[in-house]
Amino acid sequence: MDVIFFGAPGAGKGTQAQILRKQYGYRQVSTGDLLREEREKATELGKAAEPYIQRGALVPDDLIVEMVKKNLPPAGSGVIFDGFPRTVAQAEALDHLLQAAGRGLPYAIYFYVPRATLEERLLGRWTNPRTGRVYHERFNPPKRTAVDDDDGGPLIQREDDTPAIVHHRLDVFEKQTMPLIAYYNDSRSRRYLKIDASRPIGTVTAELLHALEATSSPMRTP
Ligand code: AP5
Repeated sequence: MDVIFFGAPGAGKGTQAQILRKQYGYRQVSTGDLLREEREKATELGKAAEPYIQRGALVPDDLIVEMVKKNLPPAGSGVIFDGFPRTVAQAEALDHLLQAAGRGLPYAIYFYVPRATLEERLLGRWTNPRTGRVYHERFNPPKRTAVDDDDGGPLIQREDDTPAIVHHRLDVFEKQTMPLIAYYNDSRSRRYLKIDASRPIGTVTAELLHALEATSSPMRTP
């Protein structure tokens, strides 16, 4: 089953998607990570997206939908869409894309976290730019400061994790992404869940697994 993780910046979507990918075999499609890769490679898409990302605005829907189409894993493996969709237009495009590929409607999970907590999480986040793995200086620290536990390379603070840009990203979420709650919650033909993602990482993972197990069998790796 395909799953959407949506919620404000800093809600923990990427953290949970990485856990489910590593431990339970889900595929992860993170539009934030894909855009950062495009920027790193200086592709046309990367160059077009750069000014939006730098100021904390959403990249235009047509560019995002095209990128997701190109990176959609084959049917047969559960996909977690992490940070996509973020607008109602993107949600409609994803429904069409999945249906055209003979897949069912995705299970939408909304990560709710109060705004003050989101700011604290984003301003204390450290990221491995090579793998996308995230840490937090207080809530989920690496063993050595600013060094990744897995590959031993340096961790960075993202250029959009500054107070002014974080503030703007949270405003953008409230205005452009919150309408997705009604989009996913209003239809009886959909599976929708709101989780309290302000709790500790392990608690949130346990609730996600419980919810996913109730609807299908997660693909545990041996
Ligand atoms: P993207 O990279 O997707 O950023 P985001 O949505 O702003 O999400 P974040 O990565 O900031 O948060 P997260 O929920 O994954 O939290 P995380 O797990 O890291 O997008 C960047 C930009 O790309 C956008 O601004 C936009 O310009 C563009 N973009 C991307 N997708 C787009 C789209 N679909 N349409 C248009 N534009 C798009 O956790 C955050 C911190 O909290 C970490 O330090 C972590 O260790 C910690 N933490 C996590 N969970 C917990 C917990 N339970 N308790 C305590 N700490 C926790």
